[in-house]
Amino acid sequence: MSETTCITTAVDGRVATITLNRPEALNALNSTLVTELIEAALAYDADPGIGCIVITGSAKAFAAGADIKEMVDQSYTDMLTGGPFPGWGGFERMRTPVIAAVAGFALGGGCELAMMCDFILAADTAKFGQPEINLGILPGFGGSQRLPRAVGKAKAAEMVLTGRMMGAEEAERSGLVARVVPADELLAEAAKVAATIASKSLPAVYAAKDALQAAQEMPLAEGLRFERQAFAAAFATADQEEGMRAFAEKRAPEFTHR
Ligand code: HXC
Repeated sequence: MSETTCITTAVDGRVATITLNRPEALNALNSTLVTELIEAALAYDADPGIGCIVITGSAKAFAAGADIKEMVDQSYTDMLTGGPFPGWGGFERMRTPVIAAVAGFALGGGCELAMMCDFILAADTAKFGQPEINLGILPGFGGSQRLPRAVGKAKAAEMVLTGRMMGAEEAERSGLVARVVPADELLAEAAKVAATIASKSLPAVYAAKDALQAAQEMPLAEGLRFERQAFAAAFATADQEEGMRAFAEKRAPEFTHR
């Protein structure tokens, strides 16, 4: 395990875990934390030895939002010219799947970071919210766009306009999280799911992630064309042949990620 100022990182086989580590501020996303998080994530993304990344926080907070104390004196121009978080574009374009393992508060930028990941595994203690309205602002990190896509407009509008938090059970029922697990099992479950993903063919995983992303961004006809091309391209990989031969020969595939 290695530790920088505001995160710790660990690699186990093909799975990398990044743990947000500012307990004194409930993992509020200040510029140091964000810089370290993005740097670590992009380095793992560039490493073909890593097949899945888990981002997690503490038992009390995944992240309680952007650091309010850091933002209090910021101006319109400061926000427009980069704000506290330049570099997120690269995070959003990563090819490696990212799982958010959320316990406790995931608020504001914390909820938005979780939604930026491919999916969320939640502890039964998780609480999601976009409370920016209480600070005289609105979500600025994708929340007004991703939350309605995840839970529908009515629920998203209620949360964004009132600041109401959503518990884990409601979040699962609403489609915001993939699954809820007991809090003491969260990290083990996230590691298990990540190891499963990391055991698959990397090119197939990259393509599947791209296609799922396309479903969020494209009209259906365009998304279907994208999928048809990506599906055909999978037949140019050695792993496609290996996966199918292994099935026919009743053995486990040995993917070479090529
Ligand atoms: C800075 C924060 C913080 C935050 C908590 N802390 N959240 N500091 N930014 N977002 C600090 C507190 O000031 C306190 O520090 C310590 O963490 C513990 O927090 P408490 O409030 O004492 O804990 P608790 O009573 O358990 O309440 C937990 C909480 C509350 C409900 C999560 O902390 C809270 O409401 N936090 C703010 C949530 C929020 O508004 N998030 C949205 C931020 S705006 P001290 O020094 O007093 O011990 C945002 C915009 C994103 O995210 C857009 C980006 C472009």
